[in-house]
Amino acid sequence: MASALPFFSLILFLFICQFTCITHGEDDEKYIVIPASSWKPGDVCSGPKAIAGTNHTFLVITHRHGPCSSFTNKKKPTWKEILLRDQVRVDYLQNRVSKGNSELQIQNSEISIPTNIGSAIGTNEYIITIGFGTPEVTQTVDIDTGSDLCWIQCNPCPPCYSQNDPLFDPSQSSSYNPISCNSDDCSQLPSIGCSNSQCGYKQVYGDGSYITGVYSYETLTLTPSDVINNFLFGCGHDDEGLFQGTDGLVGLGRGDLSLVSQTSQIYSGTFSYCLPASPTSTGFLQLGAPADTSSLLSTPMLTNAGNPSFYFVGLVAISVGGQQLSIPSTVFSSGGTILDSGTIITRLTPTAYAALRSAFRSYMSMYPSAPAIGILDTCYDFSGYENISIPTVALQFSGDATINLDGSGILTDSGCLAFAANKNAGALNIIGNVQQRTFEVVYNLGSESIGFRRNAC
Ligand SMILES: *[C@@H]1O[C@H](CO)[C@@H](O)[C@H](O)[C@H]1NC(C)=O
Ligand SMILES: *[C@@H]1O[C@H](CO)[C@@H](O)[C@H](O)[C@H]1NC(C)=O
Repeated sequence: MASALPFFSLILFLFICQFTCITHGEDDEKYIVIPASSWKPGDVCSGPKAIAGTNHTFLVITHRHGPCSSFTNKKKPTWKEILLRDQVRVDYLQNRVSKGNSELQIQNSEISIPTNIGSAIGTNEYIITIGFGTPEVTQTVDIDTGSDLCWIQCNPCPPCYSQNDPLFDPSQSSSYNPISCNSDDCSQLPSIGCSNSQCGYKQVYGDGSYITGVYSYETLTLTPSDVINNFLFGCGHDDEGLFQGTDGLVGLGRGDLSLVSQTSQIYSGTFSYCLPASPTSTGFLQLGAPADTSSLLSTPMLTNAGNPSFYFVGLVAISVGGQQLSIPSTVFSSGGTILDSGTIITRLTPTAYAALRSAFRSYMSMYPSAPAIGILDTCYDFSGYENISIPTVALQFSGDATINLDGSGILTDSGCLAFAANKNAGALNIIGNVQQRTFEVVYNLGSESIGFRRNAC
């Protein structure tokens, strides 16, 4: 008994310290205290936390299911529905990487569509509003770093999914110009051939959604002072799938057709975005170099020859509570890592996830656990707690960019660790949008670097 006592006191001391250290100030490196109230996001939009700098092309990003969204149907899907949709996207991205396919080359047969996928699920969560045509018609579109082509649904469009706004009608626009199928422009595009002598495309997305239409030029109005003439976009005439309400999509990938590539002369091939901590506030999409680059932590943008659209980065290590996990960096490099705006939950190679989960669970052992929700297998019941202390989670990228995730980037609003394991070791790691929250993520295609700035929105 006597020998057990000092050990017991040590445990008791650590236990007490755990609580007192938490309530009396934060240690930035080791843990974060989150008020439990942040789990019950209200239904009021608190608006932006960031404002436009002068001379910057600045668009407001909202979460489609939150009170800041302009959508009439803002009903949030359940976590089960969200995760089902998320897995389809992950499978699609991993399939594209393993086969080296661009979004305009992938075949229907390469996609397996779960039959039970809820119809209430939108493909991408973050939306912006931009203008097409002359006179300008506003359109609300998804943003997606995982694809290049920008497209909207166009009239006539009998087999189209339902959208929030009236269909864009090219016949009412004086600046609309479809690309003819025997033009030089068409021969350089990934086309499926002619449709009424116009240059047709077909794009299949990972959730079974597909869009077909005509490559066209149009005037794109990003802000009243940012008007892009002859912007190449897809005028969709047969679009089906889970876009649910948005009028189209803006591709922010690295390929030639994306918004950032087409406007690289104007905005020097640089854009950034900040995704808000919760749907009750807004973020931003900015074109051009950010005003404040002093606090940017940068990592090289890596290139994968087979997948020129994706933003590959070198993830080299992960720390939990200030302690680096002992994972060999080759564990990350075997499958590669991309940053993706459309994937929700970060996917890690199984060894890395297991180490992260184990360190996280041991820190969180004071909280009662809760049942897993799908792939989210580390969940807690925080009822009765006013403040919750969670360990910091830092992602370290090559070039010494170590980013300490925001609290909203570590736990989901359902109280689960917001990471999951890939099904196999060699699969692509994906840094999802939950982990990117509140960072301004700056993509510079010229210098081939990606920067992160904390607390940007
Ligand atoms: C903004 O643009 C104007 C006109 O191009 C220029 O005179 C001014 O210096 C710019 N301001 C900043 C802060 O860059
Ligand atoms: C929770 O945190 C807030 C803000 O730091 C503090 O005022 C409050 O006393 C904390 N509550 C408990 C029960 O520790």
